[in-house]
This record gives sequence, C-alpha cells and structure tokens, in this order.
Amino acid sequence: MDGNGRWASKRGLPRHAGHAKGAEVFRRIATECKEMGVEYLTVYAFSTENNSRPEDEVKAIWGLLRKYLLESIEKMEKDGIRLKFLGDLDILPPEYLELVSKTNEISARVSGMQANVCFNYGGRDEIVRAVKRLGGAEVTEKSLSDAMDTAGIPDPDLLIRPGGEKRLSNFLLWQSAYAEMVFTDTLWPDFTKSDLVAAFKEYTERNRRFGGVKS
Ligand code: FPP
Repeated sequence: MDGNGRWASKRGLPRHAGHAKGAEVFRRIATECKEMGVEYLTVYAFSTENNSRPEDEVKAIWGLLRKYLLESIEKMEKDGIRLKFLGDLDILPPEYLELVSKTNEISARVSGMQANVCFNYGGRDEIVRAVKRLGGAEVTEKSLSDAMDTAGIPDPDLLIRPGGEKRLSNFLLWQSAYAEMVFTDTLWPDFTKSDLVAAFKEYTERNRRFGGVKS
C-alpha cells in the first residue's frame, strides 16, 4: 500500500493522514476484490523496517491497526471476509493480541475471501522464524512452506505494487517465486477498482510458464 506519505504531502497534510486514507482504500478494495471473486488478498501494512520511522508515524499506523481490528470485529461476518495476520505480532500490546484472536475466532466461522494483513512483517524475518520453527527437522521446500506465516495459503498469482517503486521491499520473498508483478504509478490512496481491473487484465495477458516451456 505504497504512496500514502506522498499522497498526504501533495495535499499539505501530515503523513498519517495518508495512512488513514490508505486504510479506507484497503477496506474498499477488499470488498471489490471479494465481489470480483478473489479468494486471497494480502496487503503489506507495516514492515519490520517500518519500525525505524519517526515514533509519531509508527504510533499513527498502530492506531489505524487498532481501529481496523475493532471495525472488523463488527463487520467481517456481515461482509463475508476472513482475516489473517502475517508477521511477528509479538511486538503488539496484549490488547491488540486479544483483538487479533477475536478476529481469528470470527474468521473460523466465516466463509468468503481471506484478507491477509502483513504487520511487522518482513520476508527475510519470516524465513528465519520458519527455520527456527522447524527446530532442526529436515528442511525441504514443503516443510519450510508449512512453517511460514502463510502455511496453507496458496502462493500469490499476482503482486501489485502501487506508488511507482519497482521492488519487492521484503514482501513475500519466498511465496512470490512465480508471482506475476504489476507496478503502477498510482499512489495507494488514489487506487481504485479501475486500477485493479487494469492489473487483472495485464495478468491475463501474461504467459505463465513456471520455468517450463510455452504450451
Ligand atoms: C507505505 O506508504 C505505507 C505504509 C508504510 C503504511 C500502510 C498502512 C496503512 C494503510 C494503515 C494500516 C492499515 C491497516 C488496515 C492495518 P509510505 O508511507 O511509504 O508512502 P511514501 O512512499 O509516499 O512515503
């Protein structure tokens, strides 16, 4: 969800106003994805590296997470959207962890699209935590995949990065091995259904070979 800070600065607003708008856009895009038949949507909300940002910005993003959790507890059943958090959540205060566990409980009885929110997430950190979780057991692609935060979630088919940068920034490093990537200059708070449809169209024009030959 890149470009929140630039979106706010362009309007003479503080960066946290961009994140607040970004959180609203996430809610709208999640609903649109669900309506278009997406089964899994994963967003990068806060990276392990984002902890190095100024304290007030970090606090603002955490505050938005809290607001999002509270709203989700009210809405996810009605919306038919399951929620899962990926990342090292141990840094969160107990109140947040209780809210996360409430969303997990609700998700267990809801069917519909799964929205995965990466929070205090880093692809490298996830791989290190997965290896530790294996605790000396044999390391294979299967065992490592099963020890990732994303265990049981299919690898992404399409990765969309808004905001103009063309890099992964430590997002789903293991899982994106064969993801198709679409980069757009649209700043995340300006992202609309038409950007989503354009990315889906670009995806359908790709020839996915997974290292094989063209069929
Ligand atoms: C990247 O834009 C965005 C973030 C680091 C934070 C994204 C967080 C939210 C949208 C709020 C949290 C939402 C939920 C649902 C938990 P940037 O700040 O790097 O933008 P810039 O490149 O323009 O500076």
